[in-house]
Amino acid sequence: MQITYHGHSCFELVNEKNILIDPFLSGNPSYSGADVKPDIIAVTHGHSDHLGDTADIASRTDATVVCNHEIAKYLQSEGVMAEGMNIGGALEIDDVTFAMTEARHSSSIDDKHAGGTAAGFVISENGKDGDSDGSIVYHAGDTGIFTDMELIADLHTPDICMLPIGGRYTMNPEDAAIAASWIGADIVIPMHYNTFDAIKQDPVEFVEMVENLCESEVIIMKPSETIDI
Ligand code: NI
Ligand code: MN
Repeated sequence: MQITYHGHSCFELVNEKNILIDPFLSGNPSYSGADVKPDIIAVTHGHSDHLGDTADIASRTDATVVCNHEIAKYLQSEGVMAEGMNIGGALEIDDVTFAMTEARHSSSIDDKHAGGTAAGFVISENGKDGDSDGSIVYHAGDTGIFTDMELIADLHTPDICMLPIGGRYTMNPEDAAIAASWIGADIVIPMHYNTFDAIKQDPVEFVEMVENLCESEVIIMKPSETIDI
């Protein structure tokens, strides 16, 4: 699997399918302008730094959007193909399974549209025999720390997890390191920091905190960087 980081909480997972998560591109100071061609767009919640350019990209690429029920209703009213779901449920699209997980956060879109409840996703690509190819990705969305992250890990055994570390609106590095130790993924990628002054953090401190607590390897991705896993 190839993972490209477009800054903030936006990742592109490329394997059999191209999956774009939380496409906040226009207005994102860390976005390089690289083209995105998703088959599927996953949106964790309604805030503009996550829902972002979803409608524009989906209209341009015919990508299917996976999101909560309320955001799906909103996107459908804008003419976008969206599949709604909710926390605790799972949905399979084109051999990719999306399990929607709890997040401790809010999800408003604007004054006219309710955004439902904020969430995270566990994303796994299924082989032809139904087995996972081993790359199970947990994107926690925006969230404070909660102990059921351990349950999410037990249920879904993620190999790679993306955790917010910016503080103020989400976990800070200290909380996220504890979360990482509960989740126990092989690889942890910090997100949702340094996009704006309000969420300024040193990711190297996060690396040290995780190293003190567990065996997970932290990979600090620079915006527009791609890694092969
Ligand atoms: Ni948010
Ligand atoms: Mn956010």
